[in-house]
Amino acid sequence: MKTALTLSGSIRKGSDNRKLQLHMGRKLAEAGVEVTDLDLGDFPMPIFNEDLEPDHVPEAARELAALWRSHDIIFIATPEYNGGLPPLLVNTIAWLSRQRPSPFRHAIFGIGGVSSGKYGTIWSLSHLRDSLSKIGALVVPGLLGIGPAEEAFDENGDPVEPAIIRKVETMVHDLTHFSRG
Ligand SMILES: Cc1cc2nc3c(=O)[nH]c(=O)nc-3n(C[C@H](O)[C@H](O)[C@H](O)COP(=O)(O)O)c2cc1C
Repeated sequence: MKTALTLSGSIRKGSDNRKLQLHMGRKLAEAGVEVTDLDLGDFPMPIFNEDLEPDHVPEAARELAALWRSHDIIFIATPEYNGGLPPLLVNTIAWLSRQRPSPFRHAIFGIGGVSSGKYGTIWSLSHLRDSLSKIGALVVPGLLGIGPAEEAFDENGDPVEPAIIRKVETMVHDLTHFSRG
């Protein structure tokens, strides 16, 4: 059985990206994947600074890296802050990129995001895809950008727009069929 981790670049209460994360988790589970929904709030890490290496690397970085290495699929939902990535996600990627073996070279990655604007995180997703690709991650092609957030989900936390529902299906298909060989 394939295994997946899902996570959100927003840990605020009521996060729309958390809704997307959990929706993707449910859809992957329906496709027969064993899913673990992570909360980055459980992996506190200081702002990355090379002076913290090697003596003050947070245990959370090692734990998260081990989790990323041991799962087949990783889905990341990200907000868009000022046309880019939120600091939580930038910091998490910085710490993980320093762990060995690389936590980016095992799983297949899917990315998506929800924002309050109608462009639905297209810029932050572009940054995230670029960054992950440059550090060796295989990211499936779908552009799962969702906005405006307030109209995006029903009371169960499922997306309402048919185009988004189709994109989620395609992403679940790709995440469960792509392989690093
Ligand atoms: C610092 C900051 C910058 C933001 N910049 C953008 C932006 O560039 N584009 C956008 O669509 N929304 C932007 N937003 C609004 C977010 O899309 C909105 O807060 C979203 O709900 C965050 O995701 P969450 O619900 O998962 O926390 C910004 C919000 C904050 C706090």
